[in-house]
Amino acid sequence: MNYQPIEWLGNRLRILDQTRLPGEEVYLELTDYREVASAIAELKIRGAPAIGVAGGYGIALGAMKIEATSREDFLIRLKEVSQSLADTRPTARNLFRAIERMEGIAAAGENTGQIKAALVNEAIRIHSEEVEATRRLSRLGAELIEDGFNILTHCNTGPLATAGYGTALGVIIYAGEQGKNVRVFADETRPLLQGARLTTWELEKAGIPVTLITDSTAGYLMSRGGIDCVIVGADRIAANGDTANKIGTYSLAVLAMENGVPFYVAAPTTTIDASLASGDEIPIEERRADEVTRIRGVPIAPEGTDAANPAFDVTPHHYITAIITESGIMREPFGEGIGE
Ligand code: MRU
Repeated sequence: MNYQPIEWLGNRLRILDQTRLPGEEVYLELTDYREVASAIAELKIRGAPAIGVAGGYGIALGAMKIEATSREDFLIRLKEVSQSLADTRPTARNLFRAIERMEGIAAAGENTGQIKAALVNEAIRIHSEEVEATRRLSRLGAELIEDGFNILTHCNTGPLATAGYGTALGVIIYAGEQGKNVRVFADETRPLLQGARLTTWELEKAGIPVTLITDSTAGYLMSRGGIDCVIVGADRIAANGDTANKIGTYSLAVLAMENGVPFYVAAPTTTIDASLASGDEIPIEERRADEVTRIRGVPIAPEGTDAANPAFDVTPHHYITAIITESGIMREPFGEGIGE
C-alpha cells in the first residue's frame, strides 16, 4: 500500500484528508484531540474501523496535554476529551469500543505519567489489532470469491476506511492478490460519493478493474445476471446479525435476495455490538441537509429545499448470506446470535 491513511508520529497524528480525494492527496498533522474530533465529524477520517483507530489516538493526544493536579483531576479532564470524540458520530461501534478500552486503561493506571504512557501504547495496540483483524478477515473472505467474479460493493471499505487492510474491499483486494480475476462494480454512494471518490481510487491503486455505477443501476445489473455477489462493510452489527451500514445498503440487500445474488457483510469483530438485540436499537446518524441538496458544494436543488439525510440504514439479518469476520465466516441463520 503506497498511502498511509492514519499514522502515529509519536506526539501527533498524520492523516490523509479523505474529503480532498481523489483530486488531491493532502496529509494533515493533528496535535490536538479537538482537531481529531473535527476530522472525524467532517469525514476527513471515516469508515467504522478507521474512526475507532482515530478515536484511540485522539484520546492519547488529549491525555498528553492534560496538566492535572491529581489523578482524579486528570480522569475528570480525560472524560471531557473522550466525550468530545464520542459526540462526533454515533453509529460506528468501533469508536465507542476504542473509547471504552482507553477509559479502562486510564481507570486502571496509578499516576498521570504512567496513565499517559499507557494510553499512547493502547492506541497503538488498537490500531495494530485492527490492521491484523482486517488482514485475517480479508483472507478468510477471499475464499468466497471465485475467479471471474463480478462483485458489487457500496461506499468505501478499503485501507482508507479501516486504517488497515480493508473489510469488503480488503476481501476483494486479497482475492486479486491470489491471482483471481475479478471486476468490481462500485456504487457511487450518494450523498457524499465515497464509492465514486474513494473506492475507485483505492481499486486503481490495487490494480483491480472497477466500473463505477450510479446507486440506482445496481438492481438493473443484478436482474441481468451481471453480478455474482455483493460485499459491503458494516458500522454496527447487532446480536441477531442485523447490520447498519451506509445508506442504500438495505436496498441492495433486498435486490440481491430478489435476484438470487449472495449478499456478504465483512467486518472486524470490533464492529459487533452484542449488547443490542436487534438493528432497531442501533443509533442512526442524521447528517446535514445540504449534503443532499449540494454535490461538493454546488447546489442541485432550489435554495431551501427540505432534504432527509440519514447516513446509514439497517439490513435485517435474513437478507445477509454470511458475515465475514477475522474469527470466521458466520452464515444465516445466525441462530443463538453473534458474539463479539
Ligand atoms: O459515512 P462513512 O463514510 O464513515 O460510512 C462508511 C461506511 O458505511 C462503511 O461501509 C463502513 O464504515 C464499513 S468500512 C470498513
